[in-house]
Amino acid sequence: MTLHALRGMNDILPDEMPLWHFIETTARQIFQNYQYQEIRTPVLEDMSVFTRSVGEATNIVEKEMYAFQDRQQKWVALRPEGTASVVRAYIEHNFAQKDPVARFYYLGPMYRHERPQKGRFRQFYQLGVEAFGISSPLFDAECIHMLDLFFKKLGLTSYALEINSLGCAICRPQYIRTFFDFVMKKEDEFCSDCKRRMERNTLRVLDCSQEACQIATKDAPSIQDSLCEVCEKDFDTVITTLGQLGTPYRVNSRIVRGLDYYLKTTFEFVSNALGAQKAIAGGGRYDGLIHLMGGPQVGGFGFAAGIERLIDVLKHDQPEKVQALSVIAPSLYIASLGEAALKQSFILAQALRNKGFSVDMDHEGRSLKSQMRRADKSGTPWVAILGDDEVQKKSVSLKNMKTGTNELVSWEELSSRLSA
Ligand code: HAM
Repeated sequence: MTLHALRGMNDILPDEMPLWHFIETTARQIFQNYQYQEIRTPVLEDMSVFTRSVGEATNIVEKEMYAFQDRQQKWVALRPEGTASVVRAYIEHNFAQKDPVARFYYLGPMYRHERPQKGRFRQFYQLGVEAFGISSPLFDAECIHMLDLFFKKLGLTSYALEINSLGCAICRPQYIRTFFDFVMKKEDEFCSDCKRRMERNTLRVLDCSQEACQIATKDAPSIQDSLCEVCEKDFDTVITTLGQLGTPYRVNSRIVRGLDYYLKTTFEFVSNALGAQKAIAGGGRYDGLIHLMGGPQVGGFGFAAGIERLIDVLKHDQPEKVQALSVIAPSLYIASLGEAALKQSFILAQALRNKGFSVDMDHEGRSLKSQMRRADKSGTPWVAILGDDEVQKKSVSLKNMKTGTNELVSWEELSSRLSA
């Protein structure tokens, strides 16, 4: 019986790896410029880290979480997202006592038992940030703009920002009541999931992907019309600042997000380069969450982007760049003829690698023709050929793979020749 990776969980193969590194390195650079520090939390947590934060009545907790009892019968879960774990760590390590302002970024796998399809997996990677202790709406705009800047640095072009405010503890309950009255009048028109959740997670109806639910809420009252004075002013600051920073946006009052902890600013970046799974990133403000999880009353804001989806958009928007990134050619290939030359090639290869060159060679004593074929396939710009003659002269015949010309270069000169 052949073994396979689990459904919805993928191997990331070496030819894709340069794209991952490009995305990760670009993210690190930008996040560091904005003073975020990396944090790594365990993939396995006490299940209540997620039930308490993401919410009992969400799809993630209700249907998608990989939750099980460990050998001591303790309920644990593979993290379905990063925010809850980072908040748990912020509280556990008393960050607020040292400085209420703390900014973290993270990269890593998340787990959701969803129905796999294009762009939707059961193990997927997120890169995200969480910032604590800053409540200013200016910060919301800065953080969203940073994400936009990151996408631009990657070279993405086919994406857009959709933004909303979910109001606060003062204005949201009133809106939920109005909205609930509206949907209850058409209860029969909704899908079974929405019907079931209507009371516990009313706003989620707005975000349901079922066409019937979308139609039923077409003329629903908008939360934008129910915001209290403070929320309205803050939201105005967020979008005005985004405009000043040069990040275009579209206000979309359906952006309610699938996790319970948000209030005020919520947003998603969507791309039309993808299929049904359009969201490349999402996030928002979650001021009550830190306190809810046993920490101090400080504000929180963050986002996460799905790396597999970023790669799909990158492939769509920048096919040539992706092609160029995928080639990881050695700077030199050493081909040898005969036993003495093979031994010498081996020593030469180690010496050049020590000096920082990436060098490939043939260890098996294959024919010169086969070695040249492999060298050509590797995309290397240079091949050093060694036979008995070259060994005697302590040199190599250096072939320029582009022009096809050969020249004799001594072993000593080889590294400076390659650097030039
Ligand atoms: P989320 O919207 O659930 O938010 O996920 C963020 C991103 O992860 C999505 O926009 C998508 O690109 C990617 N993603 C989600 N599920 C899958 C999947 N099954 N397969 C592939 N990619 C997926 C959060 O997780 C929040 N923790 C974001 C946040 C951070 N809010 C505040 N801070």
